[in-house]
Amino acid sequence: MTALMPLLTSRWGNPESWTLKAYEATGGYEALAAALKMEPAAIIDTVKDSGLRGRGGAGFPTGVKWSFLPPPDGGPRYLVVNADESEPGTCKDIPLMMADPHSLLEGVIITSFAIGCHHAFIYLRGEVVHVYRRLLNAVREAKQAGLLGNNIKGSGFDLEVTVHTGAGAYICGEETALLDSLEGRRGQPRLKPPFPAVAGLYARPTVVNNVESIASVPWIVKNGADWWKSIGTEKSTGVAIYSLSGHVERPGQYEAPLGITMRELLELAGGVRQGHQLKFWMPGGSSTPMFTPEQLDVPLDYDSVAAAGSMLGTRALQCFDETVCVVRAVSRWMDFYAHESCGKCTPCREGTFWLRSVLRRIEAGGGRPEDMQILQDIPKSIVGRAFCPLGDGAPSALTSSLKFFPEEYARHIELGACPFDHAASYLFEAVTL
Ligand SMILES: Cc1cc2nc3c(=O)[nH]c(=O)nc-3n(C[C@H](O)[C@H](O)[C@H](O)COP(=O)(O)O)c2cc1C
Ligand code: SF4
Repeated sequence: MTALMPLLTSRWGNPESWTLKAYEATGGYEALAAALKMEPAAIIDTVKDSGLRGRGGAGFPTGVKWSFLPPPDGGPRYLVVNADESEPGTCKDIPLMMADPHSLLEGVIITSFAIGCHHAFIYLRGEVVHVYRRLLNAVREAKQAGLLGNNIKGSGFDLEVTVHTGAGAYICGEETALLDSLEGRRGQPRLKPPFPAVAGLYARPTVVNNVESIASVPWIVKNGADWWKSIGTEKSTGVAIYSLSGHVERPGQYEAPLGITMRELLELAGGVRQGHQLKFWMPGGSSTPMFTPEQLDVPLDYDSVAAAGSMLGTRALQCFDETVCVVRAVSRWMDFYAHESCGKCTPCREGTFWLRSVLRRIEAGGGRPEDMQILQDIPKSIVGRAFCPLGDGAPSALTSSLKFFPEEYARHIELGACPFDHAASYLFEAVTL
């Protein structure tokens, strides 16, 4: 059985773990001291060699992304940390920043030094005011200690960090919408290319990385690429935070080598809530196709999950037992996507609206036999035709649920009602039509 391996989460339980004093007492900023003695290109090579893949969802190799920046031309280049974390079920970056903000900051300073950035941004989901305060405090502490500002630790390297709060839109987690929002515009995705590496923030070369990706960097710099590569699987190296939620005895953050299975994680989390059985689960958040107990032994790494028909995404493992009505669950997620669709492109704007309407109709007992076909057809007009991945991901839960539980939809339509006792599941409030 794969054991847990707390690295990024290792300090979370320490007294006042968010302070500089507590961070430095447990080896904090030692990686920065080592990095400042390295050539910036050598840091990029180390992260490339480590095989670290982005933890924000797509799993793109982090060091490779950094190496896409064009050669310095004397103008500014930016690091933007994506701390928007708004996918339903995803809940790892916020506790990381709350409990251990200096680990992110250390990663920001090392990454900025490596890519030649002198002004980095952390784009934070605006609702988490408590995390905003923690980050501001960490920046202040770091500045007072000479870890930010001019001539960091006598190295001649200068860096300012701005923590920016968004206004609460899921689309602002998409990297180009985030950049538009950061520039003060309405957050909507940009056409790619040009990619942010070439023309990102203020049309300058920009690296956008997830919180967990950047917080992994000090561990790699301190312990070396070979050490990181020795953890996890060949193509999904290192540790990652798995967030278990829903009908599980001990929900929470479980940090383990990539490749651990859901069966192992469930065992570590005390199993599905007592007296119940797992019905379905989401491997990477609500934008990823669902799994059933049949996939409990799929290694939770990027390639194995993809081969099994879903995506590792943000490792937001939401568990649902037999009391949950899959139609209701999917309907609530579709409410979310219809609400969060930014409206820029027709397939997603119209498609999510109509899927929400049909799902609500079925859930409320007004389903028609032809709705089964409509639910199969509308996603075909969205996936592959939408302007950004929000549209592609929006019908994932629906399409996979129709594959695994078609009879449940049919039963709602036949009965003209929902056959479930929702009080037993404690999840997913009803909506008023
Ligand atoms: C609708 C949507 C929302 C997203 N939300 C986030 C988010 O909250 N945090 C994040 O890191 N990446 C998010 N992403 C992925 C980013 O676009 C981008 O791939 C990521 O920040 C890159 O960082 P990484 O390479 O370190 O994973 C989102 C993508 C989409 C399409
Ligand atoms: S797919 Fe949806 S979120 Fe993305 S640009 Fe189109 S309307 Fe906006």
